[in-house]
Amino acid sequence: MANNQQKVFAMALILIAVVSGFIGAGEWKSADADDFHLEWMVDGSSLNIKVSAPTEGWVSVGFDPTNKMKDANIIIGYVKDGTVVIEDHFGKGQISHRNDESLNGSDDVINKSGTERNRVTELSFTIPLDSGDPNDRVLVEGQTYKVIFASHSKDRITMKHNRRTSGEITL
Ligand code: HEM
Repeated sequence: MANNQQKVFAMALILIAVVSGFIGAGEWKSADADDFHLEWMVDGSSLNIKVSAPTEGWVSVGFDPTNKMKDANIIIGYVKDGTVVIEDHFGKGQISHRNDESLNGSDDVINKSGTERNRVTELSFTIPLDSGDPNDRVLVEGQTYKVIFASHSKDRITMKHNRRTSGEITL
């Protein structure tokens, strides 16, 4: 039989678990832009993202460009034979992007996963809100950002998109 002290301790543990669950969990939000579907959830200092488009090729999302593709924190990837490839890129120019690592930066994308089902590719990953890499953008919860999207029918990420659009989201 548990004594009172043990009961109080157990109740305190349950309370902490419930409260931290509410604080830590965040909330998934979503937006659609043409054929692209984006879901995001701020989780502490990280941003969980799911992006999908009707393609069996590459899919990409870019946050906070200054002009067309320039300065966007671009994440691009594809699923090939069950293997998921997702890379951290940066909008080097208005119509170009490069891998962060080739720009002396780092790949700050974690929890990389994805699916290709019924001709829809979905990428799922986590990025820091502020990676410290100048090849990423600092993102702040509650702020509104322009988001760009692109995809191609093939997996080769050097090929120019055959579908692209943009939208706005509030983190
Ligand atoms: C091989 C890679 C890429 C090449 C060669 C490329 C090239 C270009 C070119 C030439 C344009 C201007 C002409 C047009 O509107 O089609 C453009 C526009 C655009 N690109 Fe890319 N792109 C690439 C990847 C990407 C990626 C990964 C994204 C998304 C994250 C993206 C998003 C956009 C958007 C949204 C526009 C329209 C910008 C505007 O008019 O405001 N592109 N791209």
